[in-house]
Amino acid sequence: MESTLTEEFKAKAAHICARYPRRDAALIPLLAEIQKEHGFIAEEAMDALARLLEIPYSRVKAVTTFYTMFKRAPAGRYHLQVCRNISCHMAGAPGLLESLRAKLGIKEGETTRDGLFTLSAVECLGACGSAPVMMVNEIYFENLTAGKLDAVLEDLRHNRLKDLGL
Ligand code: FES
Repeated sequence: MESTLTEEFKAKAAHICARYPRRDAALIPLLAEIQKEHGFIAEEAMDALARLLEIPYSRVKAVTTFYTMFKRAPAGRYHLQVCRNISCHMAGAPGLLESLRAKLGIKEGETTRDGLFTLSAVECLGACGSAPVMMVNEIYFENLTAGKLDAVLEDLRHNRLKDLGL
């Protein structure tokens, strides 16, 4: 199944692996590369990566499933990840999640029909001091309120956050 990894990826992988004393230490950066290339990490890609790094498939799968930043299925253009841990919970995250469910018509783990939004509730995003927090792809939105959340959704719908890389 190693054929699921492109030649370009293998060249990049060799370069990345060379930065580490052991090839398997490059597992997380290589998973990030696969996601960058394909938008998610398929089972076949996990298998191929395990072979490439000569480590058990179960280890690749365990790392992929542990980190919420890794998607295992095709996702929407914007991945909305709302933190549900204690600081965010106390600061109103449940209401924000409820509002997103209602506005987008999807539950956590689902993608809108137009392919624009995927919704997830995730563990601490490491920005507890500015709770409640939501990540959209790689970008943080902090100190969220219902109004700010609506504005972010509208901006994303109208492609107005290109300056942020979204
Ligand atoms: S609890 Fe939400 S960022 Fe830490």
